[in-house]
Amino acid sequence: MPKKQIRINAFDMNCVGHINHGLWTHPRDRSTDYTSLDYWTNLARSLERGLFDGLFIADIVGVYDVYGNGVDLTLQESIQLPVGDPLLLVSAMAHVTQHLGFGLTANLTYEPPYLFARRMSTLDHLTRGRIAWNIVTGYLESAAKAMGLRAQPEHDLRYDQADEYLEVLYRLWEESWEDGAVLADRARRVYAQPDKVHKIRHAGRFFEVEGYHLCEPSPQRTPVLFQAGSSDRGLAFAGRHAECVFISGQNKAATREQVAKVRESAARAGRDPFDVKVFMGLTVIAAKTEAEARDKQAEYLRYASAEAGVAHFASSTGIDFARYDLDEPIRYVKTNAIQSAVNNLTVKNTDWTVRKLRAQHALGGRYFTIVGSPLQVADAMESWIDETGLDGFNLTRTVTPESHEDFIDLVVPELQSRGVYKTEYAPGTLRRKLFEAGDRLPPNHTGAACRAPPESTLR
Ligand SMILES: Cc1cc2nc3c(=O)[nH]c(=O)nc-3n(C[C@H](O)[C@H](O)[C@H](O)COP(=O)(O)O)c2cc1C
Repeated sequence: MPKKQIRINAFDMNCVGHINHGLWTHPRDRSTDYTSLDYWTNLARSLERGLFDGLFIADIVGVYDVYGNGVDLTLQESIQLPVGDPLLLVSAMAHVTQHLGFGLTANLTYEPPYLFARRMSTLDHLTRGRIAWNIVTGYLESAAKAMGLRAQPEHDLRYDQADEYLEVLYRLWEESWEDGAVLADRARRVYAQPDKVHKIRHAGRFFEVEGYHLCEPSPQRTPVLFQAGSSDRGLAFAGRHAECVFISGQNKAATREQVAKVRESAARAGRDPFDVKVFMGLTVIAAKTEAEARDKQAEYLRYASAEAGVAHFASSTGIDFARYDLDEPIRYVKTNAIQSAVNNLTVKNTDWTVRKLRAQHALGGRYFTIVGSPLQVADAMESWIDETGLDGFNLTRTVTPESHEDFIDLVVPELQSRGVYKTEYAPGTLRRKLFEAGDRLPPNHTGAACRAPPESTLR
C-alpha cells in the first residue's frame, strides 16, 4: 500500500511579524520587503520548487490592542500591523507558478456575500482553480469597532451567520450558472444561454440576496474550504462545511483527540470523515546536522520576542496578560475571542502564568517546534502524522525566506526518499490535487446540494 502523503502549506501573512515575532530584526530576515511584489513572486517560486501544496495566508481586519490596552508594542514589534490585503497578492504569484495553491483567509462578518463570491470566482479563474478560502468570522473587538459596530456579534451567533453566508455563496457559486451556460459562440452571437443562468433569491435571518452570480463558473466553482475553529460550535460548522481544518496542536494526545473530533463532526454531517484534511501549525528549524540546527535555534532566539508573542496571544484570548505578575495564575474570564484558546489556558489547565507563556513563546510564537537534522525533522513529522491522524502541516516562517529554503533544500528530499512526500505535482485544480477526486465539491457535501436549480428559482 502506498504511504500516506504528508501535505505541506507555507503559513504566511501580508505583514512583517506573523507568528514568530521579533525575527524581523534578524540581519538575514527579509520580511520587511513584504510590500514588494518580487518578495511574493520569489516566495511562490520557491514554494513550488519545494512542491508545497499551497501558500496559506492568514489575515485579520483589526489590530491587537488587548495587551497593555493599546497598540504600542503591536506597532513597535510589527505584530501583524501593518497588514496588507491577502487577496491582492495572488494574481502575481499565480502568474509565476503552475501548481501552487493559495489558501486565503477572508473574514465574512464585514463583507456582503455577493461581492465576496465574485472576488473568489475571479481568482479561481485567474489561477485555473488553485484557490482555497479560510473561512473566519473574526475574534477582534477592534475590527468590529472599526467597521462601525459597537461590539462583535456573540461567538455562536457568528457561526450562525457564517452558516447562512455559506448557503448564499453555494447558491451563487453552484446554482446560478448551470454547466454549459457559456457557449461563447461567435456565429450564433450567444455568449451565455439565458435559460441556463438563474437568479438566486435568498431571504434569511441575516442576508437578503436577489441576483445573478456575476462570474461564469470557475474551475472549482466553490473554492476549497478551510476553517480553523475548535469550540463545539466551531466543530459543528467545520463538520458541515470544511474540507480542510487548521489546528494549532501542542501535544500529540490532544491533537489526536482534536483530529478525531473533526472527523466525527464530518460524519455527523453525512460526509466521509476522510473528506476532511487536518493541518497542524508547525515551526521547523532545520540544518545539515543536529548541532548546526541547535546553533541556528540559539541564534534565532536572540532576535525573537517572547513578549510580542504573548501580546499576540492576548488578543487571541481577549485577556490582557500585561496586567498579571509573572507568576500569578491566569484566571478564566468570559471573552468574545477564541473560545477554545481561553478554555485551554484557564479551564482545561489552571497552572498557566505569564512566565510560562513567555517560555512557550520563546521563539515569538506558540506553534510546536521541531529542531534538528533532516533525518530528525522527518522522523518527528512522520511520528506526528502516524500517531495523531493529521494529514499535514502549515509551516510557519521564522527567518524569512531562509527557513522555507532550508526546509525545501534539506527536509523535502528526506521526506521524498521515505515515500511520504510527492516528487511531482498531480495535474489539475487544488481540490483535485488534495483529494485525488473531482474539481468540484463532492456530492455528499452540503454545498453540492445546490447544484440542480429548484423550479422556484428558475427565471
Ligand atoms: C490555527 C488557527 C489559525 C487561525 N487563523 C486566523 C486568521 O488568520 N484570521 C482570523 O481572523 N482568525 C483566525 N483564527 C480564528 C478562527 O478562525 C476562529 O475564529 C477562532 O478559532 C474561534 O473559533 P472557536 O472559538 O470555535 O475556536 C485561527 C484559529 C486557529 C486555531
